[in-house]
Amino acid sequence: MANATATAGMVSPHVPGMRAGGRDMARSGMVRCWCRARRGKVVCAAPPSSVNGDVLMGNDVSPRRLPRVVGMGSKLIGCGSAVPKFEISNDDMAEIVETSDEWISVRTGIHKRRVLTGEESVKGLAIEAGKKALEMAHVEPDEVDLVILCTSTPDDLFGTGAQVHTALGCKNAWAFDATAACSGFLVGLITATRFIKGGGYKNVLVIGADSLSRYVDWTDRGTCILFGDGAGAVLVQATAAEEDGFLGFDVHSDGQGYRHLNAKTSVGGTEEVIPSTNGSINLPPKKPAFSFIQMNGKEVFRFAVSSVPRSIVASLEEAGLTNSDIDWLLLHQANWRIIDAVATRLQIPSEKIISNLANYGNTSAASIPLALDEAVRGGKVKGGDIIAASGFGAGLTWGSAIMRWQ
Ligand code: ACO
Repeated sequence: MANATATAGMVSPHVPGMRAGGRDMARSGMVRCWCRARRGKVVCAAPPSSVNGDVLMGNDVSPRRLPRVVGMGSKLIGCGSAVPKFEISNDDMAEIVETSDEWISVRTGIHKRRVLTGEESVKGLAIEAGKKALEMAHVEPDEVDLVILCTSTPDDLFGTGAQVHTALGCKNAWAFDATAACSGFLVGLITATRFIKGGGYKNVLVIGADSLSRYVDWTDRGTCILFGDGAGAVLVQATAAEEDGFLGFDVHSDGQGYRHLNAKTSVGGTEEVIPSTNGSINLPPKKPAFSFIQMNGKEVFRFAVSSVPRSIVASLEEAGLTNSDIDWLLLHQANWRIIDAVATRLQIPSEKIISNLANYGNTSAASIPLALDEAVRGGKVKGGDIIAASGFGAGLTWGSAIMRWQ
């Protein structure tokens, strides 16, 4: 598989109290960066003249010569979640398509799901989840520096994150949307820790919110039974490097696998194409649209059970830990058989698995923070616990992170 990869950097032995980004910079081909502290933020400046402003490209850099990127550690200090009111059970699904509670339960582990209706929106769920995360973290909205809304289904094509941060009253923050399907939350979380580590940010609110029910073909029993809507959020806060709770990560993408899972921009709700006045070109159709979710379930299944364990092992190696150090395995909630297969391959006992898939189905970018929030509020996950999280899905994209809760 042709894919792109990035992996976390580790603590620098050279700068007490600081983390070095050398290895992750080298692997991602980032520009050299010399940093100094200014008004509590780490500022990246042009390198000294001896360096000629050259660009370091991954493998051709000797680790000895790597410049140091100073920065802070990250810790997860609050979480929250929100789901729509309307619930659809497997028996209800059997009224919609030719299926049964038994088929869905046995093949997926899903019993019911929530779906947006009426006035509800992705934005509304994101705001509710974000508010709860701020409350748990005892962080005021105006203390937040950045809001990352991880979603593939924003209420607006151009993104919904800015509306969310404004509605939350995060007046000193800026916001953007991050799209990586069911890996979206993980990508947002990693991005948050990089802004903290290299950008001097103190509080980053990461929200995963999705409504795949809007893009599901409700006549296709192979896909419509899988998905639900929801939102989850975490507050990531800067901490001293030696207290860093974000211990390792690993991310990948593979565009060739796109054919197995996608929702393409389609030629429109109408096939009508507008001709130009001289008839030489055909302009795009009047009504833009996306196709329904197309999925080859067996291929996605195979991809997940082979890629996810490898990614978690890579993250554990970065963290200097082994599978026996994991307190909780928290995977994207796609299918219980995937979760079970990954846990078996990693030799993680079932009592260490966090899963609420049965109640919500696959909520895409929301699934990891939604399950985390329930596990924290339910008293399962406690301060100091080590969590191995992994997201995987369309793109294809996948990755993992090893982190400590609080
Ligand atoms: N009810 C009853 N029968 C069904 C249903 C249903 N809902 N769906 C499919 N079937 C039938 C099929 O028609 C087929 O019948 P046939 O043998 O007569 O042809 C039979 O059941 C087997 O179908 P398969 O598709 O082979 O079933 P499979 O065991 O592969 O299970 C499933 C399908 C549950 C979708 C599984 O492949 C899976 O979970 N894959 C992973 C999907 C996933 O996780 N996707 C989300 C990724 S995250 C993201 O980014 C969106």
